[in-house]
Amino acid sequence: MPPLPRVLADLPVGPVLTGLLDGVVELVPWDAAGPGLAGVLTYGHPTVDGPLLDRLPGCRVVSNVGVGVDHIDLAAAAARGVPVGNTPGVLDGATADLAFALVLAAGRRLVEGDRYARGPGFLRYDPSHMLGREVHGATLGIVGLGRIGEQVARRARGFDIAVLYHNRRPKPAAEAALGVRYAALPDLLAAADYVVLTVPLTAETRGLIGRAELARMKPTAVLVNAARGAVVDLDAVTEALAARRIYGAALDVTDPEPLPRDHPILKLDNLTITPHLGSATEQTRRRMAEMAVANLLAGLRGGSLPTPVT
Ligand code: DGY
Repeated sequence: MPPLPRVLADLPVGPVLTGLLDGVVELVPWDAAGPGLAGVLTYGHPTVDGPLLDRLPGCRVVSNVGVGVDHIDLAAAAARGVPVGNTPGVLDGATADLAFALVLAAGRRLVEGDRYARGPGFLRYDPSHMLGREVHGATLGIVGLGRIGEQVARRARGFDIAVLYHNRRPKPAAEAALGVRYAALPDLLAAADYVVLTVPLTAETRGLIGRAELARMKPTAVLVNAARGAVVDLDAVTEALAARRIYGAALDVTDPEPLPRDHPILKLDNLTITPHLGSATEQTRRRMAEMAVANLLAGLRGGSLPTPVT
């Protein structure tokens, strides 16, 4: 039996990938990067840059489990002739579901309500207690109308929500299909009751939502980040929440991730936070794993990747 191709991975990579790759490749831990490795499998956003790739002279492919590739230096990979694959499409529905769950959770104070209902303070039902903000009939602003943003817009229709979107380029076809309306970012921020971020993290979107942008939001508005943590200035969000300059924030992602356990934002009751659960369903994560394996194996064979990063 010829030896299995050796693949660098940020282990452990979970039971599904481990099962799919058992007997197919040998997974090598990240700190053992060096010659003799034929590929890279990125699972939890480890950095892949030029210096790392230079330590892997035999690397034929980088396969990322996920669609966001902000942790991978694509130019460095291209310069070395190493193709990069990711897992687009299969996670749009799950990620949009989670974004919408965050809209509902933050607007209707679900997590706070859960804590209260379990705690010692809930001794009498009080109709004036824990009032939230309405979701149906609200205006939702989607920043980044890509595949995931479009799925968020679809879900909004069932809630009679008016949808504004901001995108690098207006998308007339999506406007016609989804009934969404393009707005410049400052106008979207000023009008939306819920601002949902679904942009990829790029040089252009890093720090997109800072103090000035938060100041444009209504005091009754909620910021939802289902994109990447570094799209928002976390200090600015912490200040805005603490001063109640916005109604709430719901963050599935943060920078850094995870946050230091004593970060001041974690003490605020108008924050809803989840541990990067966007695509975290059994079904979606399996599909992502299968796509990542298909890219990895194609690259190891020297073939073209089924879903290369474009
Ligand atoms: C993605 O697909 O980018 C998710 O954030 C998981 O990495």
